[in-house]
Amino acid sequence: MALLSILCYPDARLHKVAKPITAVDERIQTLIDDMLETMYNANGIGLAATQIDVHERLVVIDVSEERNQPLVLINPEITWMGDERVKGDEGCLSVPGIYDGVERATAVKVTALDRQGQSQTIEAEGLLAICIQHEMDHLKGKVFVEYLSPLKQGRIKTKLVKAQKAER
Ligand code: NI
Repeated sequence: MALLSILCYPDARLHKVAKPITAVDERIQTLIDDMLETMYNANGIGLAATQIDVHERLVVIDVSEERNQPLVLINPEITWMGDERVKGDEGCLSVPGIYDGVERATAVKVTALDRQGQSQTIEAEGLLAICIQHEMDHLKGKVFVEYLSPLKQGRIKTKLVKAQKAER
């Protein structure tokens, strides 16, 4: 297994649209293992392939306290979204240190392939539902800060570009 490097906003590659995965083969198994390791290592609850510069429809998630319930979503599609909305603070491994409010559906139904390539349907609510929506946005090339006002987006960009320069 290997730790993968995570793209950092405002990297333009975060805006690429991911393509469907056509075969759940050995390459995908390795990618899943590496993405899970990378997510756990960064203390994240979700990671989309887009964030590690692989533009294919793959997401890994673990919202459990014990960090032992990995969920793998290949080619996920939301098939139902509840009417109720909730606004909560979100963060993202690609937007380090930034947390801000985003409105999301409180419940969703999603179908996807699991890591064995079997079709699965997940009825999610609460944190899992929010996490699924956040990660699936990544596959569309959308980062959560894009829900914020242009003023806030500008401030976040400036802050992160500065931080990335300081790191070099
Ligand atoms: Ni994210």
